[in-house]
Formats: sequence, structure tokens, C-alpha cells
Amino acid sequence: MHHVSLRPFPDNFLWGAASAAYQVEGAFDIDGKGLSVWDVFVREPGRTFQGSNGDVAVDHYHRMEEDVALMAEMGLTAYRFSVSWPRVLPQGRGAANEAGLAFYDRLIDALLAQGIEPVLTLYHWDMPQALQDEYGGWEGRRVIDDFGDYCALLFRRYGDRVKTWVSLNEQNYNLSNAYLLATHPPALADRKRFYAANHIAFLANARAIQLFRQLVPDGRIGPSFAYSPAYPASCAPADLLAFDNAEEFTNHWWLDTYCYGRYPQVALAWLRQRGEAPDILPGDMAALAAAKPDFIGLNYYYTLTYTDNPPDGVGLQRINTTGQKGSTPSSGVPGLYRTTPNPQLETSNWDWAIDPTGLRIALRRLTSRYALPVLITENGLGEFDRLEDGDQVHDAYRIDYLRRHLAACQEAISDGVALMGFCAWSFTDILSWLNGYQKRYGFVYVNRDETDVRDLRRVRKDSFFWYRRVIASGGREL
Ligand code: BG6
Repeated sequence: MHHVSLRPFPDNFLWGAASAAYQVEGAFDIDGKGLSVWDVFVREPGRTFQGSNGDVAVDHYHRMEEDVALMAEMGLTAYRFSVSWPRVLPQGRGAANEAGLAFYDRLIDALLAQGIEPVLTLYHWDMPQALQDEYGGWEGRRVIDDFGDYCALLFRRYGDRVKTWVSLNEQNYNLSNAYLLATHPPALADRKRFYAANHIAFLANARAIQLFRQLVPDGRIGPSFAYSPAYPASCAPADLLAFDNAEEFTNHWWLDTYCYGRYPQVALAWLRQRGEAPDILPGDMAALAAAKPDFIGLNYYYTLTYTDNPPDGVGLQRINTTGQKGSTPSSGVPGLYRTTPNPQLETSNWDWAIDPTGLRIALRRLTSRYALPVLITENGLGEFDRLEDGDQVHDAYRIDYLRRHLAACQEAISDGVALMGFCAWSFTDILSWLNGYQKRYGFVYVNRDETDVRDLRRVRKDSFFWYRRVIASGGREL
């Protein structure tokens, strides 16, 4: 579809940037915070790149005012952050930690004072270790009540000031790593348990949305989904089937359940034949269907291209966590699909396909299938950056990436997509969970590396000045 003229970005478009608690806050054991599963996991040898961890991260907990001042200077109109569950409920439930709650009060108030809309993520992967130990975190149905109580605490405390909320961040990506690839805690590879944990997480997501309706009736809430639109490798029917399988098993399984409260039937039948489908109790599907989100949060980085995978074909493989280009193997599910490089697309040093048109396709597919507004809750480029003399970082590659993806957003708006905003990933540099500090995403460089926290100095990259101009022009000057 070619447009002769493009629609402008709407006046109330959210020009944002994003972060997550574990990746920026640090202060992992300060002011009464409890441990999360990540605080424990990163201490196990070999789990993360060069043993990097978020003990200090970029010390946002202590530098919050400085970071918000930089956001204001840049002209952000939205900032997406997550609350650390064990910072506010050290044991996951029960007594709240007032110092933790007060930190987020200060952050929210500082944002509002600058006219920056807070977008609060309830869960960005930092399950309280206490609940993991007690009943297996997402594997225990008790988490539905505990997560609901935690969310209600935040709705009551911040709902007067925070109107845009994200429920679960990337349940699909996080639990795939946790229960299939063994790369996030609790590091298992068991498909039956994977689908069981997802089913419980869906129910917890639904509980949060139901409580939200009562406690923040004038707010809007939705999950953030890691959406990698599928492409077929060729027009061979076997590749089309592989593509179809990938859409069902890697995308619709989550999106259909969030938005319609139903599992894709072909995928469900396949899992039932193998005894790997989740146990669905009476009332479960009704609870899911009753919790339709207000919008879909879209985390978009790349598309994936699929080809046929025979029953004795390749299984799931670890991703590239070193930045050594070309080191990602083909990965798949025997009998369903496997990934193959897309010869049409350039890739980053971490082998992520750079595909702005894929973002437009993602937005169009979401709109046509679910008829909901979309908030881009993450999009950005993780790359090596070089701090040069005079405190300069010339990240032209990141500007190019973001410019082309924002242009794709404008095409999608012109296609009829109700796009609420764009939160670039990330505001400052962050800890990339498995890739350490060398895979940088920020507009603001943070002077530290894997093991040496140095002075944690903030340095505006070229992309900082570029995004400031984009925002000031309302997206007219990309
Ligand atoms: C998403 C997460 O998976 O993508 C972020 O929500 C993450 O927390 C981002 O940092 C980029 O992924 P990575 O693995 O490069 O850090």
C-alpha cells in the first residue's frame, strides 16, 4: 500500500522512552528491598555475559532526579518504567516496604512536574524470590492472588496520578527463556511446564485487569508483547505452513488469549496430542475472556523468517549474547518450523534483522486482528557504542534505525492504525539481561562496563539531540 501523502503524528502522541527496574535501578538490597529471582540467578556461574549483574546497574535509584532532568531536557512526553515487585513487597506479599513505595512516588511526581506521562509496567521479570521458593512463581496458582494483591497496592497508591499501565512485560519472551531455553530463571527446558506457567500468567494478567477496572476506572491498561512477525522463507507450501505454525505458536497463542480469551485451536490440538497442553479449570477461559485490555503494548525489534522443520529437525537454540555477528544458529520446534536468515535484511551485531517494514506489518496485523489501539512500548537498537574524546558518542546507526522505524509508524498511522505513542528502548543505557552492558540501547550513555562501575557518568549521545528535534517538531522532522 503506497500513500501519496502521509498523515501526521497525532497531537497527543506519546513521545517516550523506556526502562525496566532491574536493568537500571541497582540498589538491589537497599532500603528494605527483597531479592528477586534475577538477584539470585545472576550469581550462578555462566548465566550472564561475563557474569554481569544489576546490583548497581546504572544506579538510577540514586540518580533518578538527574535522569528525569535529562528526560525533560530531551522533551519526552512519556516515560515507561517498571516497579520492582520485591522492592515494594520484599516477601512478595504481606507487609509493604514504605521506602520502596516512596521511591516510585518521587519518580512519578518528578515526571509529572515536567509534563512527562508516567507509563507504569507492573511486571518486568523480577519475581520475588520468596514466591519462587514457596510455590514456583508462575507455576503456582497462588501467584494469581499474590500478583493481584501487589497490583491492587500499586493501583491504590499511584492510580490517582498514573493513568497508563502495562501489565506483564513480554510474558512470551520471558517464559520461553525461563521454561524452554533455560536462559532466564528458573532455567528449565520443559514444554508441559512452559504452557502451564503461561496459563497461570494469563490468569494473573486477567486478574490485574479486572482489579484495574475497579480501582482505576479512568485509566488504560494492556500487556506488552514481544512481537516478531513471521515471514515464510519462500512461496513453497511447506514454508507457508511453517510460517502459519510460527504465527499460531509464537504470536497468536498470547495475543488471542489476551484479547479474546481463547487459545488458537490448531496449536491447542497439537499440544493436546502430545500431553503438553495446559490444564484448564472450570471458569478459567471465562476469566480470560472477561479481561480484554484497552490497548496492546508492542515491543518490536525484528521479524523472523521460517522454513519447514521435519520431526527430526532442529530444536530451540540459545541466541547470540556476545555481539559476535553471525553466531546465531537456526532454532525451531521439530515438526513445526525453524528460523532461517532473511537474505533481504541487514542484521545488527547480535544478529537481529533490521526491518522497519516489519514494524508496519506488525502494527497492521495487530489492528486488523484485534481492533485495539497500540502503544509501542519498546523499539530500539542494541549496539556497541564508543565514548570519544570530549564526551561524544556518534551513534548514527541508532539514529538511522529509529528514524526508519518512526517513518514506518507514520505509514502505519496512514494505514489506519490507532497508534498511541512510541517508547524507544531505552532512555539511558541499561543492563541487557544476558548481554551485559556492552549491548547499549540508550540515548544517554552511562560510563560503566561489565565489571567496573566507573563513575556512572551520563553522556548525551548524538541520538539524544536527534530525538529532541523529532519531538520538538511533533515528528515532522524525522
Ligand atoms: C525486551 C525486554 O526483550 O527487549 C527488555 O523487554 C530488553 O528488557 C530488550 O532489554 C532488548 O533485549 P536485549 O536482550 O538485547 O537486552
